[in-house]
Amino acid sequence: MTFIEVETYEELSKKAADIIGAQVILKPNCVLGLATGSSPVGTYQQLIERNKQGTVDFSKVTSVNLDEYVGLDGTNDQSYRYFMDHQLFNFVNIDKEKTHVPNGCAADLKAEGAAYDQMIKDLGGIDLQLLGIGPDGHIGFNEPAPVFTAETHEVALEESTIKANARFFANEDEVPKTAITMGMMSIMQARKILLVANGPAKKDIVEKAFFGPVDPMVPASLLQLHADVTVIYSKN
Ligand code: F6R
Repeated sequence: MTFIEVETYEELSKKAADIIGAQVILKPNCVLGLATGSSPVGTYQQLIERNKQGTVDFSKVTSVNLDEYVGLDGTNDQSYRYFMDHQLFNFVNIDKEKTHVPNGCAADLKAEGAAYDQMIKDLGGIDLQLLGIGPDGHIGFNEPAPVFTAETHEVALEESTIKANARFFANEDEVPKTAITMGMMSIMQARKILLVANGPAKKDIVEKAFFGPVDPMVPASLLQLHADVTVIYSKN
């Protein structure tokens, strides 16, 4: 694991964009695994800038997102599809047809999960997976549990996750109680993993996940077993 500690969120975002940009330059038709939440927003702004300047070209890139709230479709401004469109996709030259987010409105979420995993396999797997980390150590929405779940699956969100994400909604009651998330298999099979965590609020969980034991009750700790993980943590 490469652990990079920086002082500011801006530095974090620039370094993360350097790594993603390098991936796209080295393999223009790569598959990027993408995340939502507040942590990658600065990274996406950097990538938009670089795309405008012509240094990072998304025209051949395919993306697969980690997760989606159950019951929210892409027109809902709290959905992760809406987030991705408005934080990145609408502002770069990516082909929207090649951007994938799990469908949280699928009638059969089990079938949706299986189809999502198959799609990732058919794409040849993920070249670079970008992750944030939740206060309880979740990645995607793989919440603490007695065992790791391999496949894309529906998950009940932890109270702490609902509270943490309430800041994006009018109130806590509006946060969906379940989500569909890529499982640990597709994440761990990604050829490279990049996790971004910013601020003192993430300090303890970053320490636990990357310098403590591997434990499904701290889902991100499994990343310690991956051969090519970079963690960027900004202190402020
Ligand atoms: C979102 C996701 C989540 C977030 C995590 C941290 O797609 O996968 O695991 O990365 O909840 O969220 P922020 O960055 O808002 O602290």
